[in-house]
Amino acid sequence: MTEKTLPAYRPGRILFSKGEIDARVRELAGGIAAETCGGGLLAVGILNGAAIFLSDLVRCMPPELDVQIDFMSISSYGSATRTSGTVRILKDLGGDIAGRDVLVVEDIIDTGLTLSHLLDVLRTRRPASLRTCVLLDKSTRREAAVKVDYCGFTVPDAFVIGYGLDCAGKWRHLSDIRTAEPWTAE
Ligand code: IMP
Repeated sequence: MTEKTLPAYRPGRILFSKGEIDARVRELAGGIAAETCGGGLLAVGILNGAAIFLSDLVRCMPPELDVQIDFMSISSYGSATRTSGTVRILKDLGGDIAGRDVLVVEDIIDTGLTLSHLLDVLRTRRPASLRTCVLLDKSTRREAAVKVDYCGFTVPDAFVIGYGLDCAGKWRHLSDIRTAEPWTAE
């Protein structure tokens, strides 16, 4: 690999192992299912970060629950590790959510600006209910007040990767969640 193609960050310390994530995702799914009434659930995953989390989460839900899934893609981060503050819908939902019980599934909430903006947009579409489920919460960095209904783990103020979370498009495929360590040539 030449110096030019070296990644700026690489996987560091494991924060949550695959086993810990699996167990927590099962617990979250159980809690969400228990609090979902007969009308069923539309789980909306925010691409790309929540794709892996959402697919594991819904597969832990009981077969008798009417669960549907959809995805949105919004721009919040480029290749840097800080939020831009601007949020744009790149891919919208496939259908109308009026009268539906919607669960927004997000990989991580940091400042809260992304989720706060997204919830404002979805509220205007008049869902019957709108809940949020985030895998990770960097609660110390919050700038916008957002109600998180279900949270997997709280994380310290460090950039994290794996299980869907990326750094400049890399490391989403890791089955555990790790810190991203700055890469230094030896
Ligand atoms: P917020 O708007 O500051 O809450 O940022 C939320 C979005 O930033 C998430 O959906 C992620 O895409 C991204 N993000 C924030 N922190 C991290 C991190 O530690 N690793 C990977 N992505 C992150």
